[in-house]
Amino acid sequence: MNSLLYEIHNLKQSYEKGRPNLDISELSIERGAVTGIVGPNGCGKSTLLKALAFLIPASGEIIFDGRPAAGREREIRREVTYLLQEPYLLKRSVFENVAYGLRLRGMEKARLDTRVRESLEAVGLAPGEFAPRPWYRLSGGEAQRVALAARLALRPKALLLDEPTANVDEASAQLVMEAAVRAAREHGAAVVVSTHDTAWLYETASKVAGMYGGRIAGGGAENVFRGGWTRCGGLMTRPFPGGQALFAWPGPSARAAALSPSDITVSTEIPPRAEDTNVLRGVVSQLTLERATGRVLLSADVSGCSVKARLSAGDAALSALSPGSEVFLSFSYSALRWL
Ligand SMILES: Nc1ncnc2c1ncn2[C@@H]1O[C@H](COP(=O)(O)OP(=O)(O)O)[C@@H](O)[C@H]1O
Ligand SMILES: [Mg+2]
Repeated sequence: MNSLLYEIHNLKQSYEKGRPNLDISELSIERGAVTGIVGPNGCGKSTLLKALAFLIPASGEIIFDGRPAAGREREIRREVTYLLQEPYLLKRSVFENVAYGLRLRGMEKARLDTRVRESLEAVGLAPGEFAPRPWYRLSGGEAQRVALAARLALRPKALLLDEPTANVDEASAQLVMEAAVRAAREHGAAVVVSTHDTAWLYETASKVAGMYGGRIAGGGAENVFRGGWTRCGGLMTRPFPGGQALFAWPGPSARAAALSPSDITVSTEIPPRAEDTNVLRGVVSQLTLERATGRVLLSADVSGCSVKARLSAGDAALSALSPGSEVFLSFSYSALRWL
């Protein structure tokens, strides 16, 4: 079986005539893994998830489950579920909310009862206590977990979560994220999460993609530098507030440039001068172990801007680093890709 659930080429979507809200040349999404989408408000995260759920029309090609999606949207919508940031529940009991989609699919009662129970347990809601509860006796976090349980119950091929932890309490956020990871690991779902909770994403996601202005950075290039690019001789340059600056080769647009954390070399001493290479000085703010890759993701504050770099476990620089350490981040001008 193809390990990719979605293969997307030239996906474009506009709500109104004019500038597209989505303009994605290539994106692939793996089964059995968590893919993260990060980016500022209005960059198109929800629009992308809706397009992946086939809830809004978009031009371009989507290969879903090995075959072109065109003409199969109705059938695919049954295999894909989308969880809104604001959960929507039926005005019925918790049990009925989780059972609803299963009933529509004609599941017989004994299996359905078991599936509802398992799904509630998966989001940390004790079935005995919660199944009979009416929808109005739930906290925001519990309501979000019921909405998630209703989707998990369907064993979807894709689970699309739109800022699922934005409006919930800390404990619910943790349970939502754990359930999402299990849906990927145990049921092979392709889980796509848009979130501002990047610390969690970097620990669990197999890929995190940065988005800006409807475009997505390929190859896991989740550092996005937007605003303030100007031409300077044959180069593009963007200053940071404290006197440092970024350099990049000119490209097709100059709105924002993306950089993969894997393209950055981290050192604790000023590296020797090299041609066409950016060197930024920063202070380590966080070190996170990425479970998916076994590597360490370093976040550094560069003149007020957070830049992420990936180190390998055996990296010599790593043992000398802790939050507060001074670091030098080096990467080639050509590692910056225009969005
Ligand atoms: N229903 C809509 N009609 C018109 N424009 C919309 C609609 N929904 C979103 N947009 C616009 O599309 C862009 C992307 O929005 P959205 O996907 O919601 O971003 P995000 O989820 O990253 O905050 C924004 O410029 C937003 O104003
Ligand atoms: Mg959104």
